[in-house]
Amino acid sequence: MDKKVQELLNQQVNKEFYSAYLYLDMANYYIDQDLDGFGNWYTIQAQEERDHAMLFIQYLQQNSIPVELDAIAKPDKVFQSPLDPLLAGAEHERYVTSLIHDIYEAAYSVRDFRTMQFLDWFVKEQGEEEANADAMVNKFKLFGDDPKSLYLLNQELATRVYSAPSLTI
Ligand code: FEO
Repeated sequence: MDKKVQELLNQQVNKEFYSAYLYLDMANYYIDQDLDGFGNWYTIQAQEERDHAMLFIQYLQQNSIPVELDAIAKPDKVFQSPLDPLLAGAEHERYVTSLIHDIYEAAYSVRDFRTMQFLDWFVKEQGEEEANADAMVNKFKLFGDDPKSLYLLNQELATRVYSAPSLTI
């Protein structure tokens, strides 16, 4: 496999674990604010990010490429209101989409069709993640200021359950 593609795939392992860390930080913030439903939603989001990291690891291993684990950065965002993590989450997903597209572009430039096919799932997943993150922001903007509505929204988010990724390597 092309060295640049290998490097980017390895870096993405770290980025996905960082995403898990970031979302756990957000979950902790909400649980601290007694918004356990929001906390549940982000705890599950963190589990999904860990799954993403594992899929990149498995793909590297399947291609006999050594996996290099790097230090995970400390999440350093300071949240002033319950809307802040939602905005940060939406922004973060757009950043992750750009990273996936960068790997895709590198794979395309060396005709690495196998990696492009592997990444297709992530391209679609990012579309869903951006849409989910935007929906969270919009719902909060609509209902977040009203305590009764916030209570119901929190209850709705408490019902999210974890499901394993549909992609298998
Ligand atoms: Fe692994 Fe939220 O993208």
